[in-house]
Amino acid sequence: MRKLLFVLLLMLAFGVVVGCSSGEDEERPIIVMGTSADFPPFEFIADGGEGRHGQYSGLDVAIAVRIAEALGADLIIHDAAFEGLIMDLQGGSIDFIAAAMTIRPDRMESVNFSIPYFAAVQYMVVAMDNESITTAADLDGRYVAVQGGTTGYFFAMDETDADVLPFIRASEAFAALLGGRVDAVVIDSAVAQRFVNANPNDLRIIRDNYAFGDENYGIAVRFGEYDLLDTINEVIAAMQASGELAELYYYYTEGAGAPE
Ligand code: ARG
Repeated sequence: MRKLLFVLLLMLAFGVVVGCSSGEDEERPIIVMGTSADFPPFEFIADGGEGRHGQYSGLDVAIAVRIAEALGADLIIHDAAFEGLIMDLQGGSIDFIAAAMTIRPDRMESVNFSIPYFAAVQYMVVAMDNESITTAADLDGRYVAVQGGTTGYFFAMDETDADVLPFIRASEAFAALLGGRVDAVVIDSAVAQRFVNANPNDLRIIRDNYAFGDENYGIAVRFGEYDLLDTINEVIAAMQASGELAELYYYYTEGAGAPE
């Protein structure tokens, strides 16, 4: 009887151990990045569908992969409208926003930002033959396409008398410009540069350093998520210190040869 009990206990113990180890595999945590994958070189859908993570590529995706590694978690990418990302974060459907999001005082009332990881400014993009726009003041009375909820949108709405057309996706704003339906797009510098490089005969960039202020991108988390924020800050600082961030930026802006 005793022997039987002992064997039973052993089996139970063994079962529990096996159960635990397989349970650990299943219970690997999941971390969800919210982004708007229309913003190369920061987040975009890779040509051919083979990106840094699933079909997604870009600097923010590469940072998110490192964050997931640091957490020992599986990364999921939630690709949605930029203007809804802060609400998605607050609603809990995503854990952090990595979307070339500019650190702004109004946003800091709703989310916590990481340390800055990229500096930007707004550029205007116009048709090559457009001679009438040379400063941001020339946007008055023109049709201006922007991505809804972005700093470009806020500038066009608050600082100009332009007819502002907000689009869900940055790519739609550029399509409106290429289609001749608007006079200009106001958008982040690196994204403007990349798009003009892809359409060198049709589009050009106009800078106005007096009108557009300096911006810095940060990764956003919900209030109170201090452990996650610490991990994100450590990952960004390590990627900056090792030169990985600069190297990735080079790869994603040059286009070819990105280290997928
Ligand atoms: N930096 C700008 C902002 O924070 C635009 C960001 C747009 N990001 C995107 N993934 N489409 O408003």
